Amino acid sequence: MNELRMPVVAGNWKMNPSRSAEAVGLAVSVRDGVAGLPARSVICPPTIWLAAVSAAVGGGSREPGGIGVGAQTMRAEEAGAYTGETSPVMVAEAAQYVILGHSERRQYDNETDAGVAAKVASAAAHGLVPIACVGELAEERRAGLTAAVIERQLRAAISLLPRIAGTSLVIAYEPVWAIGTCDAASGEDAQAAAAQIRAILAESDPTGADEVPILYGGSCTPDNAAEFFAEPDIDGALVGGASLNAESFTRIVQLAVDAHG
Ligand code: 13P
Repeated sequence: MNELRMPVVAGNWKMNPSRSAEAVGLAVSVRDGVAGLPARSVICPPTIWLAAVSAAVGGGSREPGGIGVGAQTMRAEEAGAYTGETSPVMVAEAAQYVILGHSERRQYDNETDAGVAAKVASAAAHGLVPIACVGELAEERRAGLTAAVIERQLRAAISLLPRIAGTSLVIAYEPVWAIGTCDAASGEDAQAAAAQIRAILAESDPTGADEVPILYGGSCTPDNAAEFFAEPDIDGALVGGASLNAESFTRIVQLAVDAHG
């Protein structure tokens, strides 16, 4: 953690929970748990529950101590013939954040680096905070390609942004082999990736790079989160499974606050 950057802890609920009443209940419990904690806490429910969740927590906020609401993906275009998709204008009505380029979308929905670039720029242009995800597959790691994959994905993700400073960009480093496996990266490996990410951002914008919160994601739990938050370039977490339990998620936010000092 760096004292200049406010911690960001985002919960990616993925395709859970199944019922809107459960989603609303979880959202309210998380909002109550994190209330007043000096961090930016964010919940990212399935798109179909976005409006109900947003209404239940008072619309969501980017302010520390409040709760932000995020989508898990969106289309880059504002409107048109895109069956089943959600536009940035629609997302912005209920949310402040949007996760983009998650590895599950790259893997199952053919999301490409070029597509992520368009979405990141579109999100920023519509006043949303893009949480752009990068991270290597297990085989890429075994082949020693971690740094090359991060560099390729990150350079693409920021390629259509006019600048870094003032865009509110968030980057999440999520090694794919660590997602949902209980096999989290080490704090040291996550820091190496985060430092690389910050160095690449600094090439485009030396001042703006220091503003960007970099999150770790991949089997992050209350038991290991402090290890990541102790690292200088890691400013929070993108939490999957542990974000479906309000108490676990709140504990991770509290650990981020403790590490921030
Ligand atoms: P888990 O925390 O369940 O490993 O998921 C991480 C993730 O993919 C968050 O986007």
